[in-house]
Amino acid sequence: MAAATICLVLAVLLQAVMPILFGRMIDATSDTGGDSRRARMRAYSQACAELAGIVGVSLFFTAVRAYVFNSAGAKVVARLRVLLFRSMLAQETSWFDAKETGDLLSRLASDTQKLQAAATETVSLALRSGISAAISFALLFYTSWQLASLATAVVPFLIGATFIAMRVVKRLAKESQAALARAGAVAQEGLANQRVVRSFGAEGFEVGRYAHAVGDPDADRKTLAKDSSLALGLRQAGVQAAFITTTAGLGYASVLGVWYYGGLLVVRGQMTTGDLVAFVMLLLTITASLSVLAQTGASVVEAIGASVEIFAVIDREPEIPNEWASKSDDDRATELKLVTGGAAGCAFENVVFSYASRPDLRVLDGLTFSIPAKARAALVGPSGGGKTTLLHLLERFYDVTSGKVLFDGVDVRAIEPVLLRTKMALVAQQPALFSGSIRDNIAYASRARGLAVDDAAVEAAARAAHAFDFTTAFPDGFETTVGERGVRLSGGQTQRVAIARALLAAPRLLLFDEATSALDAESEALVQDAIDALCVGRTSISVAHRLSTVVNADVIALVQGGRVLGSGTHDVLLRDCPEYANLVRRQLRAADSSASLA
Ligand SMILES: Nc1ncnc2c1ncn2[C@@H]1O[C@H](COP(=O)(O)OP(=O)(O)O)[C@@H](O)[C@H]1O
Ligand SMILES: [Mg+2]
Repeated sequence: MAAATICLVLAVLLQAVMPILFGRMIDATSDTGGDSRRARMRAYSQACAELAGIVGVSLFFTAVRAYVFNSAGAKVVARLRVLLFRSMLAQETSWFDAKETGDLLSRLASDTQKLQAAATETVSLALRSGISAAISFALLFYTSWQLASLATAVVPFLIGATFIAMRVVKRLAKESQAALARAGAVAQEGLANQRVVRSFGAEGFEVGRYAHAVGDPDADRKTLAKDSSLALGLRQAGVQAAFITTTAGLGYASVLGVWYYGGLLVVRGQMTTGDLVAFVMLLLTITASLSVLAQTGASVVEAIGASVEIFAVIDREPEIPNEWASKSDDDRATELKLVTGGAAGCAFENVVFSYASRPDLRVLDGLTFSIPAKARAALVGPSGGGKTTLLHLLERFYDVTSGKVLFDGVDVRAIEPVLLRTKMALVAQQPALFSGSIRDNIAYASRARGLAVDDAAVEAAARAAHAFDFTTAFPDGFETTVGERGVRLSGGQTQRVAIARALLAAPRLLLFDEATSALDAESEALVQDAIDALCVGRTSISVAHRLSTVVNADVIALVQGGRVLGSGTHDVLLRDCPEYANLVRRQLRAADSSASLA
């Protein structure tokens, strides 16, 4: 970088003296009396040769400078993107609850791009223009101090105009960044949910939403949404036009003044024509440099806006701190080895919890419940009662508002989240797969931990989750690609791949959140058998939507309204807990009526 900066300074120095040489060439051609024609030819040729030499050398410096600055910029932006992505993933789940993916994507793509521009092209442009303006300025006075004083009279006005334009641009740039991010969020949602959009015939509606965020180019100025990125762009265009006109006007005024007064000086014999030409060229260089400086100023201001957003994420301390990301590979390996022993009993002690996005709603309201090590537990109860939330607290996706969640008798808040999560595996209610093959998905935990993928283990997990038969029935078998989020599989297939993925993580606590809800009755029975077999010798918690699957559980908890209304075995609950008895009766009735339909 230092070498590149030296190259930059040298190239600019050389370019700055070019007008003086032009001036000399002109003076060499004109008859100033005295000199012979031959002497003038010689002086002219010498000035030309010097100019050519300077051009050549300055081109070389320019090439070195351009390469070094631009390649450094590419590295800066790559590093920044990775850093930003790492910081995003380190944030707690609540943070994501409050964000839109499209917004985050635009931070990664366009904000970092703006910083790259500022860090490289802009720095180099600003240096070049600044140095060139300064040198040309000194040469102005060297050529003719009278003219120079006249020409610089406009400088204070230029500075004033720049200052005002800068402030306006800064505000607009920040707003337009936000507008683009909003548009990105709308687009991301529409594209990711295109099936829903299509099924409701809502293509036009979504395009309208996006066009509203971007700004409809055909709408007239009055109906255009004020905060659309187009409206902001138009305002920015206006400010820029006014600014450029002002600076150019001031520049021309000073050039015209200089031509006029300079001409007088030449006629009076106080200045040569060549000097006047050189002077005007220097002045034009200064004007051009100053206008470039003003523009780079605007892009620096934009970059500052972008960097504020970027570093707000990078510097943010996650509320559920995750030291894992900053640990060395060796430390991670050592800590992973420590994760042995413990029989994975869990307990909830008087847990109160509200989601940060809805602080007034107590989702869990003094919930107490414990699961002995190696027991099979089941959570039942009406939808919205807080069952999924309980699993989220165990995984430390969220931390309790008050009370305690214990794992192996230890408050989960005292356990490094990554380590805690290696001990448990969650099959979510709506499992999401990654684009890639079925094998890659099942082996996700091994790949994430940097372990070799064991094909035999992948197959065994697939068999245990009843995913083997349908997988091998595909022409590509385990290499079948599942599509983004698993769209190329059926719901039941996705669930079974997700179960296999959880098994391969070899957890000591298995969490199933209505893991069989997307299966037909027959495969549900099969998968339930598989789950039952897997749970032997392990602690497990299943959220069940069908009571028939949990009657054999060691402990069943009825979760309703954020509390456990009763817990125990099926028989105990039937006897002691009227709400549970009700639930059973209702399901039996539903089963009866569907049986009579069949
Ligand atoms: N991320 C979230 N932010 C805010 N509220 C949530 C969030 N997730 C769930 N809830 C609310 O918490 C309550 C319990 O939800 P959940 O635990 O998913 O219920 P269940 O799994 O028993 O059906 C519901 O009222 C739901 O609207
Ligand atoms: Mg749920």
